[in-house]
Amino acid sequence: MPKKLVWVFSKRYIAGETLEDGINAAKMLNNEGIDVTIDLLGEFITNLAQAEENKNKYLEIIERFSNEKIQGNFSLKPTMFGLLVDQKICYNLIREIVAKAADKDSFVRIDMEDSQCVDPELVLFRKLKSEFSGHVGLVVQAYLRRTLDDLTNLNNLPPNGHPLNFRLCKGIYIEPAHIAFKAFEEVQSHFLEDLEFMFKNNIYTAIATHDKYLVDEAYKLIEKYKVPKDMYEFQMLYGVTPELRNSIVANNHRMRVYVPFGNEWFGYCTRRLKENPKMASQIIKAIFIRG
Ligand code: FDA
Repeated sequence: MPKKLVWVFSKRYIAGETLEDGINAAKMLNNEGIDVTIDLLGEFITNLAQAEENKNKYLEIIERFSNEKIQGNFSLKPTMFGLLVDQKICYNLIREIVAKAADKDSFVRIDMEDSQCVDPELVLFRKLKSEFSGHVGLVVQAYLRRTLDDLTNLNNLPPNGHPLNFRLCKGIYIEPAHIAFKAFEEVQSHFLEDLEFMFKNNIYTAIATHDKYLVDEAYKLIEKYKVPKDMYEFQMLYGVTPELRNSIVANNHRMRVYVPFGNEWFGYCTRRLKENPKMASQIIKAIFIRG
């Protein structure tokens, strides 16, 4: 699909290209009683100068969030800092970001990328957790066959003063069947199995989904395990299912919206488009049929 056309579609899913745009979107959500996690777009860099630049941009974002008292934290993708180029450099750069967030009493979530990144990301998380316990969390993907084993192993980490903090999502990358469950219902049932494991083991859980069935089942599990309000939150992507989002807020659950911004919107938005191809035909209609 041509880049210009993808841009038409993308506007709904990204706050804009500049940090100012990200901050404005965050403030608007905060005014609706919604927290944010902000994400500077970009991934899979190939030269380490870019990684250093990305780190400096995150340090600036953290400073601005703190100065402007935004209710929010930070999400990042390790391949933006060279995870697949040089793991040691990547660790040092992300460590600097987490240290700055910790200094501001905030939190950094490490997004989970495609399956080649899972092992190095687990190593990264374990190291950071041992130093910055309450200030760093990870994402786990329900579609991966390995996830429940990963959760079981991670659950043995010394708590270090703070519970583990994971975002549970379905998983967005295209993975082969020997690595990931493929059937829609199968992914849903593993999502709930992972969620139940997390609640049973007092893991702080960010329930990241727009799937109404999963939201309803999550409500039931919260009730069943009497999960305290300060041990979970719901999360959604910017621009996706605002009605369901508002109903969750109205039901008095904490909601956090993932707010992506930046020039590197193309990869992020084409993934959203692949996820929901019906959108493409809507855009084309909107372009050709005025009003
Ligand atoms: P599902 O895809 O079934 O969507 C449920 C419904 O939501 C759809 O029927 C539709 O109505 C609506 N919907 C979903 N996507 C839409 C879209 N693009 N446009 C319009 N409507 C849409 N993945 C990953 O691999 N690593 C990560 O780190 C993260 N991080 C992350 C953070 C947050 C806050 C969220 C919400 C999601 C992620 N993801 C992710 C993405 C996640 O893995 C998954 O691909 C999407 O959330 C879609 O799955 P759902 O659970 O929403 O269900």
